[in-house]
Amino acid sequence: MRFSSNVSALKPSATLAITARARQMRAEGRSIIDLSAGEPSFATPEVAAEGSAAAVRAGRTGYPPTPGFPELRESITRYLVETSAHAPEDPAGVLVSAGVKQALFNLCFSLFGEGDEVLIPAPFWTSYLAIVELARARPVVVETDFDQGFALSVDQLEARRTDSTRGLFLNSPSNPSGAVMDQQTLEDVCSWAGEHGIWVLSDEIYRRLHYDGSPAPSVLDVRNRPEHIVAMDGMSKAFSMPGWRIGWAVGPPELIKKASDLQSQTTSAAAGPSQFAAAAVLASESRERVIAEFRTILDRRRQSAHSELQGIEGFEVPLPPGAIYLYGRIGGGNSQAADSAAVAEALLQQTGVACVPGEAFGTPGYLRLNFSVDDEVLAAGAELLRDWFAAR
Ligand SMILES: Cc1ncc(COP(=O)(O)O)c(C=O)c1O
Repeated sequence: MRFSSNVSALKPSATLAITARARQMRAEGRSIIDLSAGEPSFATPEVAAEGSAAAVRAGRTGYPPTPGFPELRESITRYLVETSAHAPEDPAGVLVSAGVKQALFNLCFSLFGEGDEVLIPAPFWTSYLAIVELARARPVVVETDFDQGFALSVDQLEARRTDSTRGLFLNSPSNPSGAVMDQQTLEDVCSWAGEHGIWVLSDEIYRRLHYDGSPAPSVLDVRNRPEHIVAMDGMSKAFSMPGWRIGWAVGPPELIKKASDLQSQTTSAAAGPSQFAAAAVLASESRERVIAEFRTILDRRRQSAHSELQGIEGFEVPLPPGAIYLYGRIGGGNSQAADSAAVAEALLQQTGVACVPGEAFGTPGYLRLNFSVDDEVLAAGAELLRDWFAAR
């Protein structure tokens, strides 16, 4: 079949593709340990179901306003003011979308186009590259170093800047590495971007899954930040609500309006019942307790998966400070990057353990394992991995 030039180079999300394959193998009767997905295993908070059902029963089932119901935009604004040092207090700067993924797409499509370059630090979340390319801009990968904990510096960014650089993605804590940017680096990067008129799109979806207990530094913590900065977050990870499809972007109202106009011509708005669920959770007095409970369990799983995978010959796994993944390096640091796609395939076929190879994140030679699965699944997966690497 012949498709348009819009999608001719498009590949499906590598992570979703592997998860789908693992599910299919399971349906065929194989025993599968799925460490590939990017979602926590917890049930949605009860207050979400109540908030959503109450709104539906009250007949609030019409088209939502494109940028989101006022209740939700206000709850998001209050949540951000309560959890960051310098969040804007005007809900006009908030766009609600069907997940951070849609917010990112709307922003990229509104800001970047042919001839523009967008810096993407690697390892990166698999969709950044595809979204920039869909906007017909050019992704420029900025390499970071495993031995430095994948830390990003202004020097690394400056080395890849050209006159065409228009944007920069930040993702702290990072998917897949779990790396967290410290406050000072974040401030330095924001002022560097401001000096050069570069838009910073900061994907902060794992911000509350930072295992020192405090939220990871946000661009909304940066005082006197330049205007060209957008923060994104949502309900999928820290609130364990990925299926509800609620995310948001916070930025200059003029940009938010343009991204909302784009949304009005594509999906209209995020689903109404989901918006009421999110508003109920964000405004509830149990909000911080729910996050803290999830984080405590995730921290325990992080530590136990990390210690199970220590000392494996040929697989180095650092303890990530944030997010929900272990990102391990295959082979020694001096050798050429391993063909991690082949390793992931062999692992899946021979042991039934599904994980995502580093190729999906712009860094071949690594495997990403989701540690937010149930304890028994995690323990069984770690044992199979350990045995498989030992026998290799
Ligand atoms: C870094 C990152 N950003 C965004 C998303 C997508 O979030 P949402 O479910 O809000 O679309 C994910 C999901 O895996 C992610 O890992």
